[in-house]
Amino acid sequence: MANSQFIRPLVHKLHAYVPGEQPKIKGLIKLNTNENPHPPSPRVLAAVKAAVNGRLRLYPNPTAHALREKLAKLHGCGPENILVGNGSDEVLALAVRGFVEPCQNTQFKFRNSTPSKAVVQYFTPSYSLYPVLADIHGAKKNAVALNPDFSMPGVTELKRGLAWDFDAALTFITTPNAPGGRGYTTSELEKLCRAQRGVVVLDEAYVDFAEENALKLALNIPHVLVARTFSKAYSLCFQRVGYLVGHAELIAALDKIRDSYNVNGLGQVAAETTLDDLKYYRANFKKIIATREWLSQELTKLDFRVLPSQTNFILAKPPAFPAADWLQKLRDRKILVRWFSAPEVRDFLRITVGTQAEAEALVKAARDII
Ligand SMILES: Cc1ncc(COP(=O)(O)O)c(C=O)c1O
Repeated sequence: MANSQFIRPLVHKLHAYVPGEQPKIKGLIKLNTNENPHPPSPRVLAAVKAAVNGRLRLYPNPTAHALREKLAKLHGCGPENILVGNGSDEVLALAVRGFVEPCQNTQFKFRNSTPSKAVVQYFTPSYSLYPVLADIHGAKKNAVALNPDFSMPGVTELKRGLAWDFDAALTFITTPNAPGGRGYTTSELEKLCRAQRGVVVLDEAYVDFAEENALKLALNIPHVLVARTFSKAYSLCFQRVGYLVGHAELIAALDKIRDSYNVNGLGQVAAETTLDDLKYYRANFKKIIATREWLSQELTKLDFRVLPSQTNFILAKPPAFPAADWLQKLRDRKILVRWFSAPEVRDFLRITVGTQAEAEALVKAARDII
């Protein structure tokens, strides 16, 4: 009999998250997955190398204790306010599992709860993992469009419309936005957070490249959590370390449902050492921001419509050919960028800001193509 009979219908129907390509093409300029073009600091590399020894046979610290202590010090809170995960993707998934009731499987219908208890809510476009996490969990998705320029509708506007659910069990807000790049002010985020009656996760994956961060909301509003990652700004995608900051009661709830050793030992070493060397990373943020502004200006001169960005990528509508054709034309010139088929962004390319030399190569290729 076919093995498919063993697979839950929900899993059968799932469309898995599609990560950006990681091709091994010699000489490729890789601007498709928002990785940092600069390597981890020499101290971080040395610490990871030094940790590769006989101790690999031992389990790592199960609570990432030292890392949580350091993060707590950095953010002015206690370690009980921090949950570390296998990348921020894991902590986002834990939030869905911890705060949202599954609803699709009618056999296990829950009692005494309103449908909002089963709702994962987010704006579109935003991080395309959120709907996948909701589907995996059997939750209800509530995707609400951002304004056409990817700014966030205000609370009054959201209240006027019928789509937004102020009781949603969990609301994800990507801030600054991805893939749009637009930054949101802490005051507009605060208004929305205070209007929500469920948990709000502010996904600040790119916040180190932005003008403002909203960490204080996680420290001051009990139902708000901030998600951060070491992947983008701290050059550690490979190691998979992300974390949540928030009220101790919510953090403790998610701590109960994570895997016992969810953060690998080398990742803990790398992230701890990163926090000892922030000066190195802050200098890199500055370089990336300067290149982002240069690239935006140069592409604008070539008739690209470049959206304002507070991240390490830009979203740009190219001239002359459809964006999907540009993807291929750039690839033919060994430059890899990202294109999404979702209707709101299908006319755009998402371009990671690499080094200045990579940005210059991209501009030269764009000129050739035009
Ligand atoms: C908005 C956003 N949040 C979270 C992540 C996940 O980052 P990681 O799991 O590497 O920490 C990404 C990665 O692309 C992202 O774009």
